[in-house]
Amino acid sequence: MHPAIEVPFTDLSAMAHEVWPDIETTYTEALLAARYVGGPAVARFEENFARYCETGHAVGVANGTDALQLTLQALGIGAGDEVIVPSNTFIATAAAVVRAGAIPAFVDVDPDSLLITPAILAAAITPRTSAVIVVHLYGNMPDMDGLVAVADKAGIALVEDAAQAHGAEWRDRRAGSFGAAGCFSFYPGKNLGAFGDAGAVVTNDEKLAEKVRSLANHGRDGGANHYEHSFVGTNSRLDALQAIVLDAKLARNETWTEARISFADRYRKELAGSKTLRLTEVNPLARHVYHLMVVRVANREQVQKVLQDNGIQTGVHYPVPCHLQPPLRQYATGPLPVCEQAAVEQFSLPLFPHMSRAQVDRVCEVLDEVSEK
Ligand SMILES: Cc1ncc(COP(=O)(O)O)c(C=O)c1O
Repeated sequence: MHPAIEVPFTDLSAMAHEVWPDIETTYTEALLAARYVGGPAVARFEENFARYCETGHAVGVANGTDALQLTLQALGIGAGDEVIVPSNTFIATAAAVVRAGAIPAFVDVDPDSLLITPAILAAAITPRTSAVIVVHLYGNMPDMDGLVAVADKAGIALVEDAAQAHGAEWRDRRAGSFGAAGCFSFYPGKNLGAFGDAGAVVTNDEKLAEKVRSLANHGRDGGANHYEHSFVGTNSRLDALQAIVLDAKLARNETWTEARISFADRYRKELAGSKTLRLTEVNPLARHVYHLMVVRVANREQVQKVLQDNGIQTGVHYPVPCHLQPPLRQYATGPLPVCEQAAVEQFSLPLFPHMSRAQVDRVCEVLDEVSEK
């Protein structure tokens, strides 16, 4: 029998309860008016999200994977092009490259932050490289000044996978505003999550934004003629109902993010002296928004089991690096030791805006007991 859950991994229902009173009327009206796809609610959210990301444009799409794939396609990246991807990420980062028709070139990550670095990127660029996807994994950001400089010098596009990093910053500048484009997921469990799947591409490049919008809408050019298609696109549009939810949650995202950061700071303080747990490093120039509170430990299964026996839920992000995933192994060019080691050691502690300090302390207490054994 499982013990009662004392500390859940997350609590999406608490977020839904908080926003629902604000959106109940608008949501119900939109539902009954049957205006489901696009329209003013989507336009309003796009405007607000672009402002939040400090970019000129935001284009709502169906999910974060499409945001990445459509961005690559809009940049003209496809057959024969290589796109550098850190292997320590969710499979969607690399899958989007393959689905765009290009080749993922996997690289290792920094052992302290578990993110890509300018040196890793510089060493991986070849004449076939056309882009790099910088992943702000866990909600943390790597050295964007260095990465942008390396990408610019090599003449390759830099795309940000900011699926886990709504509101993250490097030198007070928002995630998504550094590269050719920033790609976001609004999957329910993300820091900014919809009531279903959703995503967005943000960019300062108006032409790129229009290309993504058109690709996501069957290649329509936005003109009056519904049956005029400039090229073959796909259907990856944002729903009006999701936009209403996202707008209401966006208004709270800073408060929720600050709560995440304060719980993460408490974890960091409590776990700093641990002889067995290793925390990921955060550059002082970065604002880590803690989509995930990731720690590493040698005996992960054992530690997770003790936590579970104490009613504490944990997750693993991610147990298999992309270059070792069966459908992606064909693109691997050799071992990536840091990613491979992180995959067996990393796991994620409960962290969500509506948790309590007592819950954080309870997790730390149990972790303390395990490490003393
Ligand atoms: C790093 C990363 N990239 C891409 C994605 C894909 O987003 P989605 O699930 O909305 O397609 C996710 C989330 O699932 C993610 O965590």
